[in-house]
Amino acid sequence: MNVFAIETSCDETSASVVTNGVKVRSTVISSQARIHAKFFGVVPELASRAHVENINLVISQALSNSGITFDNFSKKVDAIAFTTGPGLAGALLVGSIAAKSLAVIYKKPLIPVNHLEGHIYSSFIKNELIRHPFLSLIVSGGHTELVLVKDFGKYKVLGVTRDDAVGEAFDKAAKMLGLSYPGGPIIDKKAEKGDPEAIRFTRPYLKGSWDFSFSGIKTAFLNYLKLNPVKSENHLNDVCASFRQAISETLCFKSFSAAKEFNLKRIVLGGGVSSNYLIRKMFLKIGSENKIKIFMPSLVYCTDNAAMIGCVAYLKYVKCGLKYNDAQLKSNPSLNLENWRYN
Ligand code: KG4
Ligand code: ZN
Repeated sequence: MNVFAIETSCDETSASVVTNGVKVRSTVISSQARIHAKFFGVVPELASRAHVENINLVISQALSNSGITFDNFSKKVDAIAFTTGPGLAGALLVGSIAAKSLAVIYKKPLIPVNHLEGHIYSSFIKNELIRHPFLSLIVSGGHTELVLVKDFGKYKVLGVTRDDAVGEAFDKAAKMLGLSYPGGPIIDKKAEKGDPEAIRFTRPYLKGSWDFSFSGIKTAFLNYLKLNPVKSENHLNDVCASFRQAISETLCFKSFSAAKEFNLKRIVLGGGVSSNYLIRKMFLKIGSENKIKIFMPSLVYCTDNAAMIGCVAYLKYVKCGLKYNDAQLKSNPSLNLENWRYN
């Protein structure tokens, strides 16, 4: 089954052709990072406008990279998938309108997809055989969620962030250091050259809850910088390494504790922050020490992309055919995993 998928929930305009959920024929991702950099975060109105400007080109490139033209679209594409939520309202509408227009023109079925399910299943693209149940850790610029995935479509959200998402914490820390946006990858790179034990930042474990909170570490970080302004490149690298260490240990502590509590032998990572070098390394190490198998997306599928939407669309098709609740076709910025029904 060939799915043509579109993703526009935040600041990436993306389209992809995916066969049977795991074989990616093409993916085009157009990032708006440069547009939002001077504001140190995504500006919703600018994001919607940029999606409108980019969507046609992204769609035609994704199609042509997989040998599909508007003439053979009908023959080669079986269904059209799009992200229906959560995300920025205006941004979601652009992808949804593009998908619906193609569906009307080519008389193809539509498959609405929950963006968070996209991140959960983005690791399936290279590992066809991840078995349920598993623990999913979604870590991005907008979400930090620990989810017990009992089966496809059966989710129990164990914990969410009470304040900033972890990617946001990286971005804000980078801003405090005078680095550019998005700050996560820059801190990651500088941290590779620093000493992770140089400064002991608080580990926000929130014992007794599966929730996360990153406001405390953010304040500790700011207070540290007020007392110890960055004085050299080495010092900057140490600050980045120590911050990354504290965040990585926190994510590992919560995830492995939850895996143990719910007797889960698989942890699956997803979202932009799962491309962090130390987070990947730490999960693999602790996973092998505890006989818990770790799955993570290829770097290209960590960040928002349409291939993961095409992957989920196929899994959804396998589970319930092309039946969906009509309400799912309507963009829903505050969609979550537990109000998302399969029927
Ligand atoms: O998943 P994503 O592309 O978009 C959202 O759905 O939010 O995630 C973007 C976030 C940004 O906050 C960015 O700083 C962070 O992921 N990020 C990283 C790394 N690469 C991206 N954070 C830490 N280390 C990285 N290597
Ligand atoms: Zn995302």
